[in-house]
Amino acid sequence: SEALWDQEPRTLAELNALIAKAGPLVPGSTQPVFGEGPDHAEMVFVGEQPGDQEDLQGRPFVGPAGQLLARAMTEAGIERDEVYLTNAVKHFKFEERGKRRIHAKPTAGEVRHYRPWLMKEIDLVQPKLVVALGGTALLALAGKALPVTKARGPARFENRPGFVTVHPSYLLRVPDAQAKRRAYEDFVADLVQIRAMA
Ligand code: URA
Repeated sequence: SEALWDQEPRTLAELNALIAKAGPLVPGSTQPVFGEGPDHAEMVFVGEQPGDQEDLQGRPFVGPAGQLLARAMTEAGIERDEVYLTNAVKHFKFEERGKRRIHAKPTAGEVRHYRPWLMKEIDLVQPKLVVALGGTALLALAGKALPVTKARGPARFENRPGFVTVHPSYLLRVPDAQAKRRAYEDFVADLVQIRAMA
């Protein structure tokens, strides 16, 4: 079988050094955005890809979706600082619209490129529970494309307990105010369930 590593990373720092050395698959990002949180957190939350703010600050989930995630976590009794937050893809990809950099969804090939690093990252943290936030995280963790609406709820990822829910940026995009509030409440309810599983 194909050798994945010249040198198998034994720590998150070693893993992150490999990701930094490999560089972005698609040019344009400012820097890689690594996972963040306690080395052996009980829960790992996996998002899609760093956004504009994450790219500039070099930290995951610091932009609008991250702020909404943090608020929902607080409501569900989860401490943001006690969980490990990361992304399926570690570099920002965007399209330019005037001066704005609009997030561009990673391709399945990009997700596959980053997948060994993500799986190694989870192995190193050894969480009790892995949470897929949205379809890209689910694709990365399951190794195949599945609809979030069908997979939502408890799951297993490579024999590790998991949970599938929506991405917080989806909540920002629900157009109708009442539907948006309901979607947010459903998300908080998922987080309550997640908390009870870890
Ligand atoms: N969306 C993500 O999926 N990840 C981030 O870090 C920020 C926004």
